[in-house]
Amino acid sequence: MDATPIIQAAAKLKDLAALYRDVRQTSRALGLPLSDADATVQSMPDASPAKWHLAHTTWFFETMVLAPYLPDYPLFDPAYNYLFNSYYESVGARHPRPRRGMLTRPSLDAVYAYREHVDLAMDRLLQGRVDVQAAALVELGCHHEQQHQELLLTDILHLFAQNPLRPAYKAPEPLPVQRENSAAVRYLEFGGGIVEIGHGGNGFAFDSEGPRHRVLLEPFRLADRLVSNREWVEFIADGGYRNPLLWLSEGWAKINAEGWTAPLYWEPVEDGYCAMTLRGMQAVDPAAPVAHLSYYEADAYARWAARRLPTEFEWEHAARDLPPVGNFADSGRLRPRPAPAGEGLLQMYGDVWQWTASAFSPYPRFRPAEGAVGEYNGKFMSGQLVLRGGSCVTPAGHVRASYRNFFPPDARWQFSGLRLAEDL
Ligand SMILES: [Fe+2]
Repeated sequence: MDATPIIQAAAKLKDLAALYRDVRQTSRALGLPLSDADATVQSMPDASPAKWHLAHTTWFFETMVLAPYLPDYPLFDPAYNYLFNSYYESVGARHPRPRRGMLTRPSLDAVYAYREHVDLAMDRLLQGRVDVQAAALVELGCHHEQQHQELLLTDILHLFAQNPLRPAYKAPEPLPVQRENSAAVRYLEFGGGIVEIGHGGNGFAFDSEGPRHRVLLEPFRLADRLVSNREWVEFIADGGYRNPLLWLSEGWAKINAEGWTAPLYWEPVEDGYCAMTLRGMQAVDPAAPVAHLSYYEADAYARWAARRLPTEFEWEHAARDLPPVGNFADSGRLRPRPAPAGEGLLQMYGDVWQWTASAFSPYPRFRPAEGAVGEYNGKFMSGQLVLRGGSCVTPAGHVRASYRNFFPPDARWQFSGLRLAEDL
């Protein structure tokens, strides 16, 4: 008798197979504009080569799903466990992260062959009876790959920004720049009280989004839209980057050590600023949300504006009844867009990730998952701040109200911006 628990709902398995196919095809499409050289070079230790992203996401399925759950699965190449393991100590030794750009071999074509090999095996696995735990790992692997789709784009932007030719990842279609004033920011009131925070219900969530628990919020107000480039230019013009009273000590040290005087990728031109984008060098649109900020910059701006950053709990409480729709990667725009006209909270999802004032810490009663995937989030819960809402390079459908992204406070190569809050 087979004691293995099998997944009960065939419909759910069909959905899972469709999700898998969709995610894998999207990654393949993201690689299409890239040559082997584009996909191999690493622009800084924090960024990974596109080829590495394409292989590592494949390694995740091979290591976490196929090797343990598909009988007689042949590894594509046993050396790949060393090359494409990211940070899973329990899965073995790995190639050092800052040296991922040294991997001129395997070629990009070999990585695509690796992807095909794993996809064929996953096809076999998903057509049969699937262990409940294996199904959960496939789902996790799909959401993991979506995270890497975003990283592939942010890392390619960082790489192309180092190239004096300023290559465009996607055909440079200059977008209309809104010169007129965008609507004045409005603040929406929230009464506070004891609220429920964290993922609930049956849909997918990462372990760090739970358990659902109670949080006490004081009454607060939240800006109806993101801070715009026009507002950021005012901050610069008012000496924002030169006034130590606005900055956290670490932030002040950082901007002086690095010579930061504007968001990452900005360059002054005669009538304003231009910036490197996934569509090449483009004029900075004053009405679009400011992007590529560190936490330090977001925090300093909030102080300059006599406001503050929201906590992640305030953000989640405000977002919980809003559908997670916005300017995501699927729009193909790959740039933040100005706030649309409308009432209520705008731009809560998409465009740019929103820095919050909250540390990426475990929620009460948090327990990492069992096994190697327990290393996924829990071990990163120190020295990082939470960002909410997704960005213009986040796959649509990937984020939700409880979703917690996290980065160290000096990171700014992600599409990171801010929304202001204040005490009521
Ligand atoms: Fe990963």
